[in-house]
Amino acid sequence: VGFVPTMGALHKGHLSLVETAAKECETVVVSIYVNPTQFGRGEDFDRYPRNLQQDLSLLAAYPVGAVFAPTDSEMYPKGFDTWVQVGQIAEPWEGTCRPGHFRGVATVVLKLFNLVEPDIAYFGEKDYQQLLVVKQMVRDLNIPVEIRGCPTVREPDGLAMSSRNQYLSPDERRDALVLFQSERLAQQLVDSGETDAARITQAMRDHILRVPYAKIDYVAIVDPETLQEVSTVNRPVRAILAVRLGGTRLIDNMEITPKPV
Ligand code: PAF
Repeated sequence: VGFVPTMGALHKGHLSLVETAAKECETVVVSIYVNPTQFGRGEDFDRYPRNLQQDLSLLAAYPVGAVFAPTDSEMYPKGFDTWVQVGQIAEPWEGTCRPGHFRGVATVVLKLFNLVEPDIAYFGEKDYQQLLVVKQMVRDLNIPVEIRGCPTVREPDGLAMSSRNQYLSPDERRDALVLFQSERLAQQLVDSGETDAARITQAMRDHILRVPYAKIDYVAIVDPETLQEVSTVNRPVRAILAVRLGGTRLIDNMEITPKPV
């Protein structure tokens, strides 16, 4: 059983997870559930796009054995009071910007694993820290499921697919390209011999801030396993970033690899 957990508003990123799962598994289960406990106060829970009928018709073109779309009272019945306490990997970056987010993610993902009992679960690398948090939980709690990280799917111009892209106005959609461009810039700098992570992140910030109303939550070059910042790019690292454009918060990341010597 292959499992693709989602919050719906399905796009090609989700569908590529379904395709990979269908190649590797006999049965694919997709869950669609906008999990309230991973949203903080003032975040976009209320306006998060929900369109179950459209999601189901998209999935109809794929060999999906079951779609699990529970209600809030099924997932969190009255009296629900047990949580997964996430550790260090969940602290920086998204963990700092969105306190409690990964506690909600880890708790719902564990509940979904227990309900679906998958052999393999598929997560997009777009939410890179989430992928690491889930892998850590599975290791630490001996959960009998294999976690597969799958590459980010991008629009033809490079914008990472995200359900939240729906929030962008046409101008914001155009300006949102600075995320991808700044990651590509990081790789170009490394290709031209730059190894100083501080200089690379500064160049990424400068590029993003060419959009005057952009607000950077973080831009960092980190170790791909620990998410700790690195000072020198002398091995494969991850450029990670979160940027707000008007009312929309976008995240993205990319592997940055030094040229082999
Ligand atoms: O990545 C998501 O869509 C959600 O965080 C997940 C994994 C479905 C848990 O609600």
